[in-house]
Amino acid sequence: MRVCVIGTGYVGLVTGACLAHIGHQVICVDNNEAKVKLMQSGQSPIFEPGLSEIMQGAIQSQRLEFTTDLAAGVKHGQVLFIAVGTPALPTGESDTRYVEAVARGIGSHLNGGYKVIVNKSTVPIGSGDWVRMLVLDGVAEREGVAAEPVLAGMSIPALPRSVREEHDFDVISNPEFLREGSAVHDTFNPDRIVLGGNSARATALMQELYAPIIERQFAEDKTQPPVSVVATDLSSAEMIKYAANAFLATKISFINEVANICDRVGADVTQVAKGIGLDSRIGSKFLQAGLGWGGSCFPKDVSALIHTADDYGFEAQLLKAAVSVNQRQKLIVVEKLQQVLKILKGKTVGLLGLTFKPDTDDLRDAPALSLIENLTRLGAKVKAYDPIISQTGMRHGLSDVIVETDAERLADHCDALVLVTEWQQFQTLDYIKMAQLMHAPILIDGRNFLNQALIEEAGFRYVGIGR
Ligand code: UDX
Repeated sequence: MRVCVIGTGYVGLVTGACLAHIGHQVICVDNNEAKVKLMQSGQSPIFEPGLSEIMQGAIQSQRLEFTTDLAAGVKHGQVLFIAVGTPALPTGESDTRYVEAVARGIGSHLNGGYKVIVNKSTVPIGSGDWVRMLVLDGVAEREGVAAEPVLAGMSIPALPRSVREEHDFDVISNPEFLREGSAVHDTFNPDRIVLGGNSARATALMQELYAPIIERQFAEDKTQPPVSVVATDLSSAEMIKYAANAFLATKISFINEVANICDRVGADVTQVAKGIGLDSRIGSKFLQAGLGWGGSCFPKDVSALIHTADDYGFEAQLLKAAVSVNQRQKLIVVEKLQQVLKILKGKTVGLLGLTFKPDTDDLRDAPALSLIENLTRLGAKVKAYDPIISQTGMRHGLSDVIVETDAERLADHCDALVLVTEWQQFQTLDYIKMAQLMHAPILIDGRNFLNQALIEEAGFRYVGIGR
């Protein structure tokens, strides 16, 4: 099938590369020329395990192309994915201006024949219909037909019937559930595929597009039953994305709250999580207590949902609580450091890990950033070592931090270490040597990731979260 993916951020690039890998003919469009050049050479602009290999394979077999030419992409695609960013505005609302520009752009380049326009970006609820209007508006503009300006909820531009029939399309919402660091794996092994829209024709085309994935041809375990497809209306599909992320974020805030109570009563949250997670109604995933949730999705999507509820005069109390528990949780380490070091002014704190989670170079809303800000405000000197950030030289938002090139340099002359991100290689560092290099070997394990007994044997005082 001929596919066009507009926007090569996380979701767009992974989707485009994976669809090409399973046999489709894909053109990815992005307006960043330098990025397009990089991708044309088979290099991924993001750090994501397995992605560049898939890109290179698909480019070699001539199934994957990158361009800045939106018109060429739109003409090529039977299925057009909108996968541009919807970052949070300072108010918490989603900034949909990129979606708007792309939808109009698609309209102005539609070249006839039936097409499915897919909202892959996490868009505000109700955006499916809005995108449809914008596309029609783009067509109207090109055709020189007078049309009402498109505002949310306004009428569809009055296009002549012949123009409408020639530009037959449907809009589908197909939210993405992939996780950074395992995006390729998640694309080939989804728990479900959600298709929202009221056109049976569009849904059938999308099922055909995803058939190799639905039938598990590229799955880790090919013997599993086919992937469940949730075919529903547009708004429900859009809501599924928000509700899934809000639920997971709330689940983490819940276990973090339990951890804070565990700390006070002397219980161990890792045992508690195991004990409750075995209840199949609860499930064991997303019950790891730690420094709180960050990244590009949870913070943005939870605030957008709170904001949407607000727009309809409803206060999303539980979601607001999940956010405030998370904000407090990011600072739990500061409290713990104050308990052991007392005064932080003049002390040196070393952070093991900076990214919001392992196997990514993403610092967006990373708990490390709030931690750095607060430690610096209290007069502590902050150093950090992160397996990726230390190599890439990315320093955005890290001006107050000395970024070291390895864990031993980090430990040198530190008063305490804090494990912020659970990178696998942190399990096997030479903690004996690191303890010797420190002023006072204290380790706050912000992810309950290390083996307490081994760390203590190495000479550290070990402090976990909720244990
Ligand atoms: C998330 C969703 O999982 C994914 O379905 C959606 O498409 C995008 O948002 P991602 O942001 O890549 O994916 O990361 P995820 O692995 O879900 O972790 C999110 C945050 O929660 C991280 O900061 C992580 O450290 C934290 N987390 C996760 C916990 O603190 N405890 C847990 O048990 C799980």
